[in-house]
Amino acid sequence: MDLTLANVKQNEQIDEFISQTDRKLDAMNYSDHGRRHAGIVSDRAQMIARKVGLSNERIEYAGIAGFCHDMGNFLGRELHHHWASILFHQVFSNQTEDIEGLVAIMQAISNHDKDTARLTNEISAVLILADKSDVHRDRVKEKSKEKILEDIHNRVNYSVTRNDLDVNENTKIITLMLRLDTKFTPIMDFFEIFTGRMNYCRKSAEYLGYKFKLVINDFELL
Ligand SMILES: [Fe+2]
Ligand SMILES: [Fe+2]
Repeated sequence: MDLTLANVKQNEQIDEFISQTDRKLDAMNYSDHGRRHAGIVSDRAQMIARKVGLSNERIEYAGIAGFCHDMGNFLGRELHHHWASILFHQVFSNQTEDIEGLVAIMQAISNHDKDTARLTNEISAVLILADKSDVHRDRVKEKSKEKILEDIHNRVNYSVTRNDLDVNENTKIITLMLRLDTKFTPIMDFFEIFTGRMNYCRKSAEYLGYKFKLVINDFELL
């Protein structure tokens, strides 16, 4: 079997892992980590991979890593990146002869979450940019005012009404542009939980030979 995004999306086990992850994180009042997030991160990872000039094969790997990166959450939040990586291996190791692709995808998935991670391949860098940039109102599932206000992640996600990521091959700048409605959260809340993620994006952009720019409400902040 070729490791293609279409084949991975058709796999019943992967589908069930994502469904169960969705249920588990809903129960924890977390922002969306299910099909919406998986789809957006997968699409965005492919877009970034294409723009920075990766091969068609590696664009496909980036899309797969994006689709599967959070599917380990149903086994446990703390190590979800490692669970997802091992699950990916269990499902596909007997089905494909593309060992290099299998391992590259596993590594990117395993690498997407923790500060101790080190970038050693481009797919990891692409996945981090796609994942950490997904902040948006649509990620908040429980839209009652009480639930939004009680959790900083929900407040910050809910306040973001627009999110665009631009990769400029000529200027070598990757720009994340956010429209933030400060009615729901002060801009400081954003920095409280997103400074680490934005640093991660900056490092990933640099690994790909790009600069990272953050623009919130037309103000250039990074
Ligand atoms: Fe994650
Ligand atoms: Fe994620």
